[in-house]
Amino acid sequence: MKILQGNIVYSPKLGELVTMEHGALVLDDAGQVADVLPIAPNHADAAYIDYGDKLLMPSFVDMHLHAPQYPMLGMGMDLPLMEWLNTYTFKTEARFADTDYARRTYRRLANDLITGGTTRVCMFSSLHTDATLILMEELERAGVTGCVGKVNMDRNSGDVLRESTEESKRETLRWLDACKRFEHIKPILTPRFTPSCTNELMAWLGALSEERDLRVQSHLSENGGEIAFVKELHPDCDQYWETYAKYGLWKDHTVMAHCVHSDAREREALLKHNVVVAHCAGSNINICSGVAPIRTMLREGVWVTLGSDIAGGAILAMNRVITMSIRASKILHMQTDGEAEFLTVDEAYYLGSTAGHRYFGADGGFSRGKPLHAIVVDDAVLAEPVRKLSLRERFERSIYLMDKSAIRAVWSDGRQVV
Ligand code: GUN
Ligand code: FE
Repeated sequence: MKILQGNIVYSPKLGELVTMEHGALVLDDAGQVADVLPIAPNHADAAYIDYGDKLLMPSFVDMHLHAPQYPMLGMGMDLPLMEWLNTYTFKTEARFADTDYARRTYRRLANDLITGGTTRVCMFSSLHTDATLILMEELERAGVTGCVGKVNMDRNSGDVLRESTEESKRETLRWLDACKRFEHIKPILTPRFTPSCTNELMAWLGALSEERDLRVQSHLSENGGEIAFVKELHPDCDQYWETYAKYGLWKDHTVMAHCVHSDAREREALLKHNVVVAHCAGSNINICSGVAPIRTMLREGVWVTLGSDIAGGAILAMNRVITMSIRASKILHMQTDGEAEFLTVDEAYYLGSTAGHRYFGADGGFSRGKPLHAIVVDDAVLAEPVRKLSLRERFERSIYLMDKSAIRAVWSDGRQVV
């Protein structure tokens, strides 16, 4: 048994923040949370780890990012989505045919994720099977857990990055076989988005998802040009989401990135099928996709999480993804003369932490009986505050200001990894 002492902060529910000054987390021998207590108990056989006056809070979850876009942060940011993909993105991803390049890049990404306090991810790789396996190895080595998808894309990507329908199927099966060795990283089926996949491939992936009980991730209603293209490709579908539903890809725990332009009917379909929204505010502003109606989705009961969307988003640090989602919601708030409510810091932290942990089976912040995913934040290294702060204020300031230098320890799946 281990007992971790520190100032505990977590968000069990949307809009609820629990703070415990000098509290304690009790971990069993498997690294699972056995108890969250206001005062450390006395146990002769427990190992005590005292984090003193530091903050002990649930780690971050990045529910949407593209690993092979890590080398192109901040590039092509003035282009709209489809041009950005064709001009920059596909060319960058094509480099991951080179496994040495993949190893170097993915080791750096995995290290940057874990030292930044992101312990769970739902991630896109490229279409390359070998580079995808290297990505999974590097995440496991660093202590990052979650889901990774080999991308399927058999049309509309130009010459540089293409697989035939047959190759895509064959490589997906080879990848799934090779994934069995991973303990903390699981495969997720990843049709890039409707414009990138033939109907034959979409139908095959839908059947495979059903047959092997595999989860699915993709993109939805991100940008006007994209939505018009999808309409052209699937004139029989009234809405974008139906192009996934038609092939069995719209199901419980499917993750859809963006959903910027999802109207009431599309949101109803998200809710009804328990499809998870990965909201990527930074990316949506960078490439002028729009501002997603997150507050409306939350009011309606849609499951919303946050993603950095590297490299549409240029920032990997999830605390900054959280503050960006607050700012995006405030833009909507101001544009509607206060009618649309904005996200508070407590709410946005819930989305970037607890809502994502739920996707992997944990709930309620520090969930009893679930492996610990936590960060230890030393806010004494931040700019000196104007006065003595409450724990609630220290939490808010940390979310706005922290960088890696403030993150002094990271726990992932019950193990201390930083
Ligand atoms: N839609 C399809 N592929 C991508 C991608 O790589 N990034 C973003 N932002 N949207 C996409
Ligand atoms: Fe994306």
